Amino acid sequence: MLLLLVSEAISLSLLWLVPQRAVGKMGYWCAVLAVVGVGAYVNASPKSAKICFRKDFAFGVATAAYQIEGAWNISGKGESIWDRYTHEHPDWVFDHKNADVATDSYHKYKEDVKLIGDLGVSYYRFSISWSRILPTGLSNQINEDGLRYYKDLITELHQKDVQALITMYHWDLPQSLQDLGGWTNPIMAEYFVDYARVLFRHFGDHVRAWVTFNEPLSFCQEGYGGQDAPGRRASGVEDYMCAHTVLRAHGMVYRMYKEEFDRNNQGYIGIALDMPWMEPYTTSSVDKVAAETARQFLFGWFANPIFSKRGGYPPIMRRRIDVISKRQGFFRSRLPTFTKEEVDMIRGSYDFLGLNHYTTNLVKPGDGRITAKPSFYNDMGVKLIVSPEWPKSNSSWLRIVPWGLRKTLNWIRHTYDNPSVVITENGVSFEKGLKDRKRINYIDSYLRSVHAAIYKDNCDVIAYTYWTLMDNFEWMRGFSERFGLYETNYSTPDLKRIPRLSASYFERVARTGCLDDHSSSPRNYDGMVIL
Ligand SMILES: *[C@@H]1O[C@H](CO)[C@@H](O)[C@H](O)[C@H]1NC(C)=O
Ligand SMILES: *[C@@H]1O[C@H](CO)[C@@H](O)[C@H](O)[C@H]1NC(C)=O
Repeated sequence: MLLLLVSEAISLSLLWLVPQRAVGKMGYWCAVLAVVGVGAYVNASPKSAKICFRKDFAFGVATAAYQIEGAWNISGKGESIWDRYTHEHPDWVFDHKNADVATDSYHKYKEDVKLIGDLGVSYYRFSISWSRILPTGLSNQINEDGLRYYKDLITELHQKDVQALITMYHWDLPQSLQDLGGWTNPIMAEYFVDYARVLFRHFGDHVRAWVTFNEPLSFCQEGYGGQDAPGRRASGVEDYMCAHTVLRAHGMVYRMYKEEFDRNNQGYIGIALDMPWMEPYTTSSVDKVAAETARQFLFGWFANPIFSKRGGYPPIMRRRIDVISKRQGFFRSRLPTFTKEEVDMIRGSYDFLGLNHYTTNLVKPGDGRITAKPSFYNDMGVKLIVSPEWPKSNSSWLRIVPWGLRKTLNWIRHTYDNPSVVITENGVSFEKGLKDRKRINYIDSYLRSVHAAIYKDNCDVIAYTYWTLMDNFEWMRGFSERFGLYETNYSTPDLKRIPRLSASYFERVARTGCLDDHSSSPRNYDGMVIL
């Protein structure tokens, strides 16, 4: 235990989002508990124990540019693929809305930063709109107003003692780059490097934590093979091309940052990957194999090239897609191949792994048929289901399964040799209303799961980010799904933000680093598994 603490203390210097929590009463207790061994303490008396994270564990909240900024066509901002997509196909969005105004954070950022400050979190994860900085996507024309907006935002955050964790790409590709094929065009990697260089030049002195891409699984698979912008319907082909370019772009930006901007090694770059936990449907070995195949297709697709020792795509993906492509009559595999140099360049290109995690699926083998039309899901060849016993949220895809997060963190630990993990998103949608005890239960139970992963299982998790600050535009679900700690009142002209109960709950957690006692924590629905 002592040795462990010493090695953990060294990794402290890795920390960039360290909370400013004073060593008050709770901080003192956390320190004491850490010394005597939190695991032992919690085990001794699980009913009444106060569960605390170490003082250097950071809490934050997240948003993304397109979902909150609005101001889609003012002050020189260029059109993005989400502007184009929602304007051309309003009927494809659940409530036929778009984010032309969203929560108007472009104009209301000062108010939003105050809300963030009120939460007592130590960092704010937000994204930069590429086409607000570079209206055509290319670096020869920089929009000064875009630079000013984000500079002001960062300054405002710092005045409230909140650090910035910047996502460079959260799905809103400049439309003019999509007109060149978007992420299926390999040159997009170079253009992304140029864009990143502009960001590092202008913000690099004040921002030390960066996420290159948010959820490439979503924007490649859903964007190029599914329902999201840019609305390509070419699963099994273009989604693999997208991923290939994105992985190269990520590696290139990492290397460029380290060589040109981060000589003292004080900055941190990661990528945010999404993964629902994939639990075998039964304990049978075929179900276990199916679940691991799903993990490799959904997460390993992006994680293996960056975080594994050997690099490159997961062997199971390589094998399955090569074989199925051949059977479908292709002369070459639909899954592209990295050069040896690319494998080496991408492998190890991280300072932390960003994990977006919300829910869990059960997995069993598919029917084994190969479809004539290529498809990512046919290549994966498994069936994903949910247990009817798992509590529902307000999102059809999101069942509440807190233990899935602990399993995910442990799987990452043993698959990728325990990288530092920032939980870059975790959250839940419920119906509107301020008394959101169900949201408090969700956060509380998922945080208990994180706590167990850290202090019982030795997973190296260093921060937790709640998605999201306030209700906002949830992509194809429009404004119908509400994930906010603050409720956005869309009926008021000034889009008033009103704190929910979960906002004061999360503030307490962020300020003290501790979860409420079980006995005092409200729990009002069945089926919740408490770790
Ligand atoms: C910007 O878009 C809005 C619709 O969201 C439209 O009413 C307005 O005329 C546009 N402004 C400019 C300058 O194009
Ligand atoms: C939202 O605004 C409407 C209109 O002003 C008001 O009637 C309603 O009470 C507000 N909702 C909340 C939760 O404050």
